[in-house]
Amino acid sequence: MSGEHEHLPVAKVEGYTLVKNPFYLALDRVDLDQAIGLLKGAGKNILGGKLHQLIDRLGALRIAEELAQFAALWGDVKLHDTPDTVRERAMEYRNAGFTAISVHIKGGIEMMQAAKESGLYIIGITELTSLDEEVSHLGSGQPRKASALKLARDAKLAGIDAVVCSTKEVGYLSKRPELKGLDFIVPGSRSAGQATHDQKNVDTPLNVMKNGATALVLGRQVVAAADPLTALAAVVDEIAPALAVA
Ligand code: C5P
Repeated sequence: MSGEHEHLPVAKVEGYTLVKNPFYLALDRVDLDQAIGLLKGAGKNILGGKLHQLIDRLGALRIAEELAQFAALWGDVKLHDTPDTVRERAMEYRNAGFTAISVHIKGGIEMMQAAKESGLYIIGITELTSLDEEVSHLGSGQPRKASALKLARDAKLAGIDAVVCSTKEVGYLSKRPELKGLDFIVPGSRSAGQATHDQKNVDTPLNVMKNGATALVLGRQVVAAADPLTALAAVVDEIAPALAVA
């Protein structure tokens, strides 16, 4: 399992059929036993588990030892440092048994290339969804939309595998010809009637997939549901029309 990419999304090139269950489970606010239960149950129906809190608590090695047998693991560690440091840290995740990690695209092209040298599937963070239009604009000097496009272009230039973008951005980013080959991973979707929690720009899983997402990050709607596997099955059914037209 370690370092193998068969459970991760493959770039959406022309003629490629979308993966059947394009989901990462966000294993936030759960303990190790709950994470094991979730991945044991869902492992074959998802691309992988996305982890940060549990890595902070128990360490990457322990997490991989306990969980990599059930699903591919994405360490959502959002690295942002010098290229050498990022390369070395990425190798630690690779050696531990992770399949993917995330890095901040704002760390630069050389840093992303260094991360990629680990052989991991590298996921670049564009603009954080917690930054609203004004804060994002003040920080980057350009509208959020332009900044997200610039960051996605940098990710593509660096040759990494995927970007994380919001439900509001995936539609225009996924249509840009210069970004072809990148996977678009989108958190913050909610089916109709579901609680939105602290997510600011929610859209439904079906709309997000129709807008060109390669994969969804499914968090509380599934993970915090009374019956997570039933909640996951409902999302599988919901997005089926988007997969049918691919
Ligand atoms: O809200 P949900 O539980 O579905 O969140 C899933 C993932 O979305 C989290 O692991 C986090 O990384 C991301 N997130 C986000 N924006 C927020 C809150 C969470 O992108 N405002």
